[in-house]
Amino acid sequence: AVKRTPFIAGNWKMNLDHLQAIAFVQKLAWSLADAKHDYADAEVAVFPPFTDLRSVQTLVTADSLPIGYGAQDLSKHDSGAYTGEISGAFLKQLDCGYVIIGHSERRTLHAESDEDVNAKVIAAHRHGLVPVLCVGETAEDLEAHGASAVPVAQLRRALEGVDASKGLVVAYEPVWAIGSGQAATPAQAEQVAAALRAVLAELAGDEVAQATRILYGGSVKAANIAAFLREPNVDGALVGGASLDIDEFSAIVRFKK
Ligand code: G3P
Repeated sequence: AVKRTPFIAGNWKMNLDHLQAIAFVQKLAWSLADAKHDYADAEVAVFPPFTDLRSVQTLVTADSLPIGYGAQDLSKHDSGAYTGEISGAFLKQLDCGYVIIGHSERRTLHAESDEDVNAKVIAAHRHGLVPVLCVGETAEDLEAHGASAVPVAQLRRALEGVDASKGLVVAYEPVWAIGSGQAATPAQAEQVAAALRAVLAELAGDEVAQATRILYGGSVKAANIAAFLREPNVDGALVGGASLDIDEFSAIVRFKK
């Protein structure tokens, strides 16, 4: 079996201004340095608001911190008359490695369609950014179609015309588990992650499917991270609320299987 490096990603959503971001990233760096000998070999990344990215870049590059970062969204366009939008070119210029695309809050609150999500994945690749593509079912979807149907359909539509070998992380975030304190069980997450990996294999071949990391997101905490990581198809977590608390997030990053 292929070994995938676990990925722990913190989605700050609309929290932490640029000064708070600097303090947080410094503390996270101390915590990682401190834990060197005992923490699992995970890749760690934060996803701050756009206005924090320059500060985070300065800090991370000045001290070569082992912390990745990316934005929470990007425009499907590259430049032009799109007031309020942020281009992938700008994110790349700030050395972002990743960009979250299709988070359920964007889909719900900003009416992002599967077509928009697809265009954003293509835009991310155009600029050399790795999409962290979010998929997930609502409670109603779960009731009506089971857990996998909607995430699988979202993944298929997001990847139309996409060369997944250009880099991709998939985040399975059941909408009912986000911010609810009610996480999916590790077995539920594994079931959907396995279904998503099968779709990746079908669309992009087995090698890409085996190399692609699939994260679980939705009420992940220090207390439940290890159980998710024990599942063979779950390669990490996209953490919301618990990524804002330095002690909690450090503990998540230091999960032990
Ligand atoms: O993107 C991560 C997120 O939606 C999960 O949020 O607060 O349930 O960890 P939370």
